[in-house]
Amino acid sequence: MPTRRNMCLLWLLLLLHVCEGAFRVDLFKSTAQPREGDVRLVGSKSPAVGRVEVYHDSKWGTVCDDGWDMAEAQVVCRQLHFPGAKSFDIGQDYGQVTGPIWLDDIQCNGNEKHLFNCGFKGWGVTDCTHKEDVGVTCETEDTSLGDRRHLLDHTFSLSDDLGKTFDDQRGCNFLIVAKSASGNKMQNGTLEMLETQICAHKIMLSQFPLFNATEDISSITVDVSLSCRPYFSSFIRYLYTRKINVTLSSVQCIHWMASKFGVKQLVEDTTRLFTQVLPEDPLFHTQLSLYKYAEETGDLVLRENCIQYLAWNFVNLTTSPAWADISAELFGLILSRSDVVVPDEFFLLQSVESWITERGNATSLKSQVDLLNRIRFPMIAVEKLYALEVNSSLYSTHQKLYHDNMLKAFQFNVLLLSNLLSNPKFDNAEEDYQPRLYTDSWSIAVTPNHQIRTFSTPIHNSLIFQGKKAGWGLGIFTSQYQCSNQGLRCKSLPMVRLRPQSDYSRYKVIFHNRLLLMCQGKYICEVQGFKDDVGYISENSTVGLSYPCPDNNYTYRFVVRPEYILA
Ligand SMILES: *[C@@H]1O[C@H](CO)[C@@H](O)[C@H](O)[C@H]1NC(C)=O
Ligand SMILES: *[C@@H]1O[C@H](CO)[C@@H](O)[C@H](O)[C@H]1NC(C)=O
Ligand SMILES: *[C@@H]1O[C@H](CO)[C@@H](O)[C@H](O)[C@H]1NC(C)=O
Ligand SMILES: *[C@@H]1O[C@H](CO)[C@@H](O)[C@H](O)[C@H]1NC(C)=O
Ligand SMILES: *[C@@H]1O[C@H](CO)[C@@H](O)[C@H](O)[C@H]1NC(C)=O
Ligand SMILES: *[C@@H]1O[C@H](CO)[C@@H](O)[C@H](O)[C@H]1NC(C)=O
Ligand SMILES: *[C@@H]1O[C@H](CO)[C@@H](O)[C@H](O)[C@H]1NC(C)=O
Ligand SMILES: *[C@@H]1O[C@H](CO)[C@@H](O)[C@H](O)[C@H]1NC(C)=O
Repeated sequence: MPTRRNMCLLWLLLLLHVCEGAFRVDLFKSTAQPREGDVRLVGSKSPAVGRVEVYHDSKWGTVCDDGWDMAEAQVVCRQLHFPGAKSFDIGQDYGQVTGPIWLDDIQCNGNEKHLFNCGFKGWGVTDCTHKEDVGVTCETEDTSLGDRRHLLDHTFSLSDDLGKTFDDQRGCNFLIVAKSASGNKMQNGTLEMLETQICAHKIMLSQFPLFNATEDISSITVDVSLSCRPYFSSFIRYLYTRKINVTLSSVQCIHWMASKFGVKQLVEDTTRLFTQVLPEDPLFHTQLSLYKYAEETGDLVLRENCIQYLAWNFVNLTTSPAWADISAELFGLILSRSDVVVPDEFFLLQSVESWITERGNATSLKSQVDLLNRIRFPMIAVEKLYALEVNSSLYSTHQKLYHDNMLKAFQFNVLLLSNLLSNPKFDNAEEDYQPRLYTDSWSIAVTPNHQIRTFSTPIHNSLIFQGKKAGWGLGIFTSQYQCSNQGLRCKSLPMVRLRPQSDYSRYKVIFHNRLLLMCQGKYICEVQGFKDDVGYISENSTVGLSYPCPDNNYTYRFVVRPEYILA
């Protein structure tokens, strides 16, 4: 039993943490099956380092070192969606192995998509022992990937004592058995289950009714996915200490376990962490995986957070290794937004075309039409529209769609507003007529100590305005001195200003401009509007900013967005 001092504390905790309602129980599949030919890295804390194992015939097995060099390591790392391999090792201790040795005398040229596409003797044909198992270390681009710790700490003074109570299990009276399917099939056809047993104290768990730690129950069994298994014990320890380290690799599991057992504070903290870790993965696997998780758990806030990040950082997404894995549904959701940041609309059309083409037949005609219809053809420059018939890879498959959309675009681009208005099909509010965040001719990027004071853009994308320019005056104010110098009152700092140099309303055009904050030259962490030509920037990443930016190291991009004024 806990000491008397701890007992007092426990009762206090009980009073403080009256648990609220039942939590939505997950739909997160704990037994997701590996597929034939999958690879994984086993036996280290980092997802990018470990013994190479291959899944074949319902079993994970290892790879022997004969014939192994960097070419083979490259194939493994790319199959796991890392950009490449850093090194490999042989006979390193990555913990116990029980499975077979699947591959030996392996010969890759380095470009294969899967390890099993390389030459080898035959599954399980080998004269090696497990001493010759190979391991690899993959490149992660960002060395902090998977290693950067976020400490969540809601401690009270005695939490270290309670941590010891957990560690030595003295007086424990409640057994938690966590079961995970290893992916291996046993000879009699059943799945091999790995078990982790933790002996805990009912009194600690009784604050969380979903553990069922009542008087007459003394053990429970929980299904935990293989990927979450390494974090289960630190999750239970958190219930004692209110302290836990969370990383990019563990945040999803810890959130899942916290939701499953109704640990409200941890759910809230990890939800907040999701937003923080989103920019930490330059390979974009985390963003897609969190999006999927949000769909499965019905977490609308997280879902929106992921889609928004992908929309703002769309160009990087298209060059990332995760681009090939994005679903048609998610792509469609991104394309339906006005806050996608791209050079121009034509870039989006090209990304749809190449995405569909690269996947061969995998996209149904119906989804192709759905994606193409989300392109805002009227926003594409006329000279690029002219070239579509010859340049587009999908034109011949979807002639009518292209034709109709091009016609609509030409009308918008060559007719005066007064003539457009007499067309019953023209509806200014329709999304096709609203610009997104175009960086090519519509924006300028500056750093705070820039010398630039003015720039110009077109007035509107219609040909009618060809040759006419809108002039803009811009300012970034980082001290009250700069503000008063300009006769301005800055309510907070930094303040930014974007002012038209003359009145363009006579052209029946109105501007809904935006300011983009690019963090450390790497990712867009905020998009905001102007009010009376002025915007205020929050320098404290825990409040206001959509995604955090260390050192507030921003580049400011001013984006001009014209629309017709009706009436
Ligand atoms: C299959 O074998 C394992 C041990 O080898 C055993 O624990 C399990 O109960 C068996 N399952 C069936 C359905 O016979
Ligand atoms: C707790 O008990 C309920 C009702 O008997 C059951 O549905 C649930 O699975 C149990 N939870 C755990 C973690 O065993
Ligand atoms: C978190 O990580 C730090 C650094 O490795 C370690 O000193 C600390 O004990 C960890 N805290 C918890 C609660 O695991
Ligand atoms: C996005 O792409 C730019 C240019 O290629 C690169 O400098 C930047 O690091 C990338 N950002 C991320 C988060 O990968
Ligand atoms: C598309 O499907 C057809 C028939 O189903 C097949 O012959 C062809 O190879 C496939 N093309 C691609 C690129 O997958
Ligand atoms: C169309 O394709 C040709 C040849 O590939 C290229 O030179 C031209 O720039 C393309 N036009 C547009 C608008 O992309
Ligand atoms: C700020 O970001 C730029 C890249 O845009 C980088 O070159 C510079 O070193 C960063 N400065 C600091 C203080 O981190
Ligand atoms: C950011 O704001 C929060 C809440 O207002 C405050 O607790 C924190 O100290 C601030 N951080 C910085 C670096 O100003």
